[in-house]
Amino acid sequence: MFNLQGKVVLITGLGQTSDEGWGIGAAIATLFARQGASIYGGNRSLESAERTKRRIEEEGGICDVLSTDVTDSASVKALVDRCLQKHGRIDILVNNVGRSEPGCPATMAEDVWHSQVDINLNSVYLTCHHVLPIMERQESGGAIVNIASIAGLRYIGKPQVAYSATKAAIMQFTKATAVIYAARRVRLNTVVPGLIYTPYTQDLAKRYAPGGDEEAYMKKRDEQVPMGRMGDAWDVANAALFLASDEAMYVTGQKIVVDGGITSSTGRV
Ligand SMILES: NC(=O)c1ccc[n+]([C@@H]2O[C@H](COP(=O)([O-])OP(=O)(O)OC[C@H]3O[C@@H](n4cnc5c(N)ncnc54)[C@H](OP(=O)(O)O)[C@@H]3O)[C@@H](O)[C@H]2O)c1
Repeated sequence: MFNLQGKVVLITGLGQTSDEGWGIGAAIATLFARQGASIYGGNRSLESAERTKRRIEEEGGICDVLSTDVTDSASVKALVDRCLQKHGRIDILVNNVGRSEPGCPATMAEDVWHSQVDINLNSVYLTCHHVLPIMERQESGGAIVNIASIAGLRYIGKPQVAYSATKAAIMQFTKATAVIYAARRVRLNTVVPGLIYTPYTQDLAKRYAPGGDEEAYMKKRDEQVPMGRMGDAWDVANAALFLASDEAMYVTGQKIVVDGGITSSTGRV
């Protein structure tokens, strides 16, 4: 099951904010490599991408990385070209880069709004713009997995309107493009993570915990979830693996919500 032997995976954001634990992109790249795929990853900081590359190679996997800015078309094209030069194909694309800035339309500076649209949404357009024609030419087509967020489905307790709007847009981008490409053998789906414990989340706690109480900040996140705890990067990676694999051959334009029950609930009582 979920065998990716011989598949070439292009993934963005396979680094992570800090050394400890697992970021979502790092876990997806590592899990896909364990299933036999060759990984080609683009990340803003090369240093953090190389950490993931080392982790994969230590387990005997294959991973190349390139410093990439997913908001820049030339940089994305260079990543795609380098992957093609090395492997001659791209079977799976994972769009994982994303980040949230707080604010509502009245308080958010215009440059922050635009940078949120760039990093969360335009990045997905850019990779698809460069990769879809390649997948379409391949006899076996391809699979694209986009990482959204439950903030694109619900207000989750803090004002982050640009993040919410762009993550919602990813889901519809995925559905519409999936229909256009359904007969061209390219499948597109979304994984929608809830509250996930990653190095980035730890960083959020450092920045935003009231009174600097990071433990209380994390406890509150745990308590928001009907299962009583945040998920981790592997929970997201497992859903991404299913959608990328041949076992999901007849699944396109869909989303898998990985949230411990939050979006099915009206809140814990
Ligand atoms: N953590 C959660 O609770 C949660 C919940 C729902 C959805 N998500 C989504 O899941 C995804 C991954 O989240 P995460 O928590 O694992 O984040 P993360 O630790 O910050 O990892 C994101 C990676 O993206 C890279 N990156 C940032 N800007 C980039 C750019 N312009 N070009 C290329 N790479 C760039 C970062 O590089 P650097 O190493 O240079 O910083 C980092 O390695 C995001 O789309 C996020 O919105 C997360």
